[in-house]
Amino acid sequence: MRSAPSFGVQAFFDEVTGTVSYVLHDVASREAAVIDPVWDFDAKSGRTSTASAQRIADYLDAERLTLRWVLETHAHADHLSAAQWLRRQMPAGAVRIAAPVVIGQQITQVQKVFGGIYGMEGCIAPQGADFDCLLRDGDVLALGATRIRALGVPGHTPADLAYAVEEGGAAAGAVADIFVGDTLFMPDVGTARCDFPGGDAHALYRSIGRLLAHPPETLLYVCHDYPPAGRAAAWCSTVAEQRAHNIHVHEGVDEAAFVAMREARDATLAMPQLMLPSVQVNIRAGRLPDADAQGRRFLKLPVDAL
Ligand SMILES: [Fe+2]
Repeated sequence: MRSAPSFGVQAFFDEVTGTVSYVLHDVASREAAVIDPVWDFDAKSGRTSTASAQRIADYLDAERLTLRWVLETHAHADHLSAAQWLRRQMPAGAVRIAAPVVIGQQITQVQKVFGGIYGMEGCIAPQGADFDCLLRDGDVLALGATRIRALGVPGHTPADLAYAVEEGGAAAGAVADIFVGDTLFMPDVGTARCDFPGGDAHALYRSIGRLLAHPPETLLYVCHDYPPAGRAAAWCSTVAEQRAHNIHVHEGVDEAAFVAMREARDATLAMPQLMLPSVQVNIRAGRLPDADAQGRRFLKLPVDAL
């Protein structure tokens, strides 16, 4: 564990979807990034709520943090993103400059596939421009002296990024923590599914190998937790713990064995409850479809498309 971290991490767990959102902040500058914020959505009523995102906004306010970036690890299929609401949340009195919403450059592939499924071709901005910033593997964002490095970790989707945090100051350049997105889950839960369009279990295995090549004490923050009965929700593990105990990819599991396991398991999984509402919003950076002349908004329900 770090003795004198130059940055802080606060997790927000959404019990409804099992999603973990994070606020990462640079201690000296009070600049912050929010990772994977949840916009609450009740599919039965079609009602949205910003209750989960408000908790994050309240934390930013209480800690006097300036929101600098909203980071998406990928286009989520299990919850709607609160990126558009949250990016405009500023502490009282602050200059109102909305924080850029960031995702991996390969989001354009995901938009192409799902844009076709939903018939959204005319609604999606060209070249990923629904997002404010597209990152390639190795690109770096600044958060004061802290650096956030994008690691391409395809597999769950082609566009998945992990965000590796590099400390400023004396430890400059050292990777201390990684937000791993949908790659690894907690060791007793395993790994992310790879059966959505564009998913690839071979790619996920290699992406996980890249994450687990970091030093053993590196902290890994997962995007979801689905705790087994009797265990409280958790979201932080280490490279060493994952190597030793991850039920799907502990040391000694080779690519062929992992892929066989992953594909067999994926064949048994139901679609996520909010997949159809979520993806059409999240591939446009958390925007609902445009309103009609009466101000009404409608989500689409593609039939027999998946
Ligand atoms: Fe996901």
